[in-house]
Amino acid sequence: MNIFILTGAGVSAESGLGVFRGEGAALWKRYDPMQLATPEAFARDPALVHDFYNARRNNLIAASPNAAHFALARLDAGLAQRGGALTLVTQNIDDLHERAGSTNVIHMHGELLKARCASCGAVCDCREDLSTGARCDCGGALRPHVVWFGETPLFMEDIFAALDAADLFVAIGTSGAVYPAAGFVREARARGLRCSELNLEPSENAAEFDDRRYGPASEIVPSWVEEMLGS
Ligand code: OAD
Repeated sequence: MNIFILTGAGVSAESGLGVFRGEGAALWKRYDPMQLATPEAFARDPALVHDFYNARRNNLIAASPNAAHFALARLDAGLAQRGGALTLVTQNIDDLHERAGSTNVIHMHGELLKARCASCGAVCDCREDLSTGARCDCGGALRPHVVWFGETPLFMEDIFAALDAADLFVAIGTSGAVYPAAGFVREARARGLRCSELNLEPSENAAEFDDRRYGPASEIVPSWVEEMLGS
């Protein structure tokens, strides 16, 4: 069986990385994304944007994968043993899926532990704070390797190829508020796939899913994975 999983901030919430929307201390309630996560914001005030992502990078380095990340890595290995495959497409810019052992992770919104040259586009590893003086070998300014509002997500061709090859679509920990990711369930349905949602609460497009399970990811993802590997 080939499974396509889309993850969002909810899968990393219990690792302490926070979510963007919803109740409590959601990031986009505390900060204005238009001042921090757009190419225009970076052009206007790069130091402010760097400070925001430097703080998030330091939080990430101190965080650890939770039971949901580890369960998805078990699913990856279990499907491979059975001749199947897992494609894990994440909107998250953290590396917690990889640290838990997942092998085929597609970061459609980029990666916080990488930086990109705003001039030549070269991508490099980045675990240190970035400043306005940070430069690529070509002399161009370095920016966080993350997709901002108004920019095109990465790896869209690979993502659609994986949807074409999938037998099951599963969305985990995502609010269904941001496109194109929020539209993948519709693409999956158009391909005749069964669709499952695992989230703390119904997402904005919950009605599009055949199977819905609600609760903390650290509980519902491991039990779903055991079910998948047992069947
Ligand atoms: P959101 O913050 O929009 O949604 C997170 C979802 O996770 C919500 O539906 C919560 O109910 C759910 N959730 C919270 N805690 C959970 C838990 N412990 N277990 C399971 N689910 C939980 O995050 P995303 O959908 O990932 O983009 O947001 C999509 C994109 O919007 C992000 O990639 C980011 C943001 O703006 C960019 O920065 C380009």
